[in-house]
Amino acid sequence: MARKIILDIDPGIDDALALCLSLFDPSWEVLAVTAVGGNVSSAVATRNTQALLAYFDPERSPRIGAASEPDRGLPVKGRFADSADDLRVAALPVAELRTPHPSEKVIVDEVRSAPHAVTIVALGPLTNIARAIQRDPEFSALVGRIVIAGGAVQVGGNITPAAEFNIYCDPVAARVVFASAAPKTLIPLDASNKLVLGLGFLSELPEETGKVGALFRKLLSAKFRNYRLELGRETIHLHDTLALMAVACPELFRFVEMSGDVETAGELTMGATVFDRRAAPAWRHNNLEVAVSVDAGAVHQEIVRRLRLAADAAGDLATPV
Ligand code: RIB
Ligand code: CA
Repeated sequence: MARKIILDIDPGIDDALALCLSLFDPSWEVLAVTAVGGNVSSAVATRNTQALLAYFDPERSPRIGAASEPDRGLPVKGRFADSADDLRVAALPVAELRTPHPSEKVIVDEVRSAPHAVTIVALGPLTNIARAIQRDPEFSALVGRIVIAGGAVQVGGNITPAAEFNIYCDPVAARVVFASAAPKTLIPLDASNKLVLGLGFLSELPEETGKVGALFRKLLSAKFRNYRLELGRETIHLHDTLALMAVACPELFRFVEMSGDVETAGELTMGATVFDRRAAPAWRHNNLEVAVSVDAGAVHQEIVRRLRLAADAAGDLATPV
């Protein structure tokens, strides 16, 4: 029985890679791909999601959810390395959605269609997930699991000293999701920072004669270039793709039940995730299963292996990207 997945993404090059691996995993059924603003605006996230699905053209076409702005708007206009996460470098063609369905409605519909069986993989801000929880009082009891790429337990933030980007973009939504009764897994920066990829990763990608290799050699080259120009770094992380591996290969991770919450008001700490790690914790709701460590080398190899399988399944390029 294929595993039922909803992918919630703010594409984003890292999101695009996670999407590709999800679409071409034969043991997964991607029911829907729902866009959320974050790395790029809500409108661009929706357009990029459509363009990527049209480009990959999977056998089973998932439903598409259209992103809408968070209630407080996006606090940053894209990532600090904004152009590193915009897909403009690929110039993928896209047709306008005839009848755009809001992401949160698509999420609720698909969870209701398969009670207790759907895993939501949230790779961007949690706006859509919070809205789904607020839209349907039974949602938290019906969803199988929500896996979240974001937050930080013992390491610093990546968009501010205190906050990780996805949580920072919509901390009020993140707090709603953290407080929900839905089964939740968090893949924080503590784990995803451990996967550090150098330029050699480009040579491990599938050949550029194929769709997958052509796209990701272009996108990841741009990501390396922008991280070097804007951050002075020769390496990149793939936080979303590592989070996806926590769903595909949980045996490569160590998880701990923790009680966590989100700062929604602090001037310096807005979007920080806070966990009760005291010797005698007073917070006892253990609302999150948190990935506290990972075999990063094995995850790296698994990503390369799965990319090759995706390339075989996606086939060759009809026209150059
Ligand atoms: O902090 C990493 C997260 O921020 C990733 O999801 C990346 O795509 C950006 O959204
Ligand atoms: Ca993302």
